[in-house]
Amino acid sequence: MPAASSSIASRSPAAAHHTPRAGTGLATAVVGLQWGDEGKGKIVDAIAPKHDIVARYNGGANAGHSVVVAGERFALHLIPAGILHKGKPAVVGCGTVIDPDWILKEIDGLAARGVDCSGLLLSDRAHVVMPWHKDEDELRERWLAKTSVEPIGTTKRGIGPCYADKVQRGTAIRMGDLLRPDVLAGKLASTVPFKQAIIGAMAAALGPALPADYAMPQYSAQALAEHCAIWQARLGKYITDTTQFLLDAQDAGKSILLEGANATLLDVDHGTYPYVTSSSTSSLGAPAGTGLPLASVGAVLGVMKSYSTRVGGGVMPTELIGNPADEALAQTIRTRGREFGTTTGRPRRVGWLDLVAVRYSVRLNGCTGLCLMLLDVLEGHQSLRICTGYRASDGSPLPFVPDANWLSAVTAEYQDFAGWQGDISGVRSMSDLPTAARRYIDFIEEYLATPISMVSIGPGREQLIEVK
Ligand code: IMO
Ligand code: MG
Repeated sequence: MPAASSSIASRSPAAAHHTPRAGTGLATAVVGLQWGDEGKGKIVDAIAPKHDIVARYNGGANAGHSVVVAGERFALHLIPAGILHKGKPAVVGCGTVIDPDWILKEIDGLAARGVDCSGLLLSDRAHVVMPWHKDEDELRERWLAKTSVEPIGTTKRGIGPCYADKVQRGTAIRMGDLLRPDVLAGKLASTVPFKQAIIGAMAAALGPALPADYAMPQYSAQALAEHCAIWQARLGKYITDTTQFLLDAQDAGKSILLEGANATLLDVDHGTYPYVTSSSTSSLGAPAGTGLPLASVGAVLGVMKSYSTRVGGGVMPTELIGNPADEALAQTIRTRGREFGTTTGRPRRVGWLDLVAVRYSVRLNGCTGLCLMLLDVLEGHQSLRICTGYRASDGSPLPFVPDANWLSAVTAEYQDFAGWQGDISGVRSMSDLPTAARRYIDFIEEYLATPISMVSIGPGREQLIEVK
């Protein structure tokens, strides 16, 4: 186990200085430390007032950030959660992939609830998710299933195929292209027949594995150009060189909040490959996905649940599965924690907190502070478990290796903790938490050797304890 840090009870107030002061020009990154849905949106919402600008740096409409304001739940997929703070610029950076229909739906949904989206800025270098990306996403998943490979379990939002096109270059479309209809028309004329052929070949290869009522997509360059003109008319005013905007803001001493989407264990390079998403989700992706220099990231806040969840395929070493008692426990946590996908509605897989995996994420991200979320969900159990080590079949200790095959061979080793009873959702200070809950938190902080800055005990804005 790593060297112990001071416990929360004995820590001096200085230890909680985890975010740079406003006006220093330094950025704060907020990243997920597990497999997503840790509550990043809530943390972004909480610390947005201390920052001048909020910027997303990765992912697309696969993310689902829900924030509850005055009892009203806002589910955001592409627009940074910072949009809920009036007048704060909300940037969707160059490292993202944007589905224009989705973002329009989101803008309209927010506007209908009185949220002003005039501060939205979309990078002209962000890539456009086109219809063929979503179609290919679906066909690829079907192909894996047909060939007896566990599908990735994607959100089918076209994320992987869109990033693949970005890297392929010639057949990619960027947001900035929407502002140049002549250039766009040329790209569509070249790309549409090629994509039609690829999708046709994929569908043919799948053959009877496709449902009888599968409707073969038909793309038309003309129809798409008309659709792109609608996107241009409605989104054109938001599309700009956000890299320049952010660099200028930083020169002017503004502090930028970098909102990570998805999570570290889903990172395309550093996650549990191949069961990952297609972008750089960790703090390492923030400079590339915004254009800000590496040294400008002054603090990294890692957001983690008090337990583990995962959506889609891939192993989760602490998953509560395989016997009725564990599955009933998973169901209790799932129900209490509303563990159903914000994006796809899928029930999330549930497991005990895996500190071996989280410690890997903390180190990779260079976390300067931690936010422990959904602690209230764990109340009412006699005992709780935390995974503190991995073992091979011969009992020898194993490190965390971000690879699906490696993880499928490890056995989780647990430490048991006393649970606590009663409702903690009204607690507003660490000293009012039950002793068992404080012990659980102290252990996490000591194991991870990183200060816990915030503890969430409910979805509401006010249900957040700031650790002094
Ligand atoms: P937030 O931001 C949970 C998962 C998908 C799938 C894999 C690849 O809400 O924490 P993709 O559609 O990205 O190609 O799917 O990644 N995944 C997420 N799971 N929360 C997310 O984002 C996710 N983003 C992607 O379920 O297993
Ligand atoms: Mg999600």
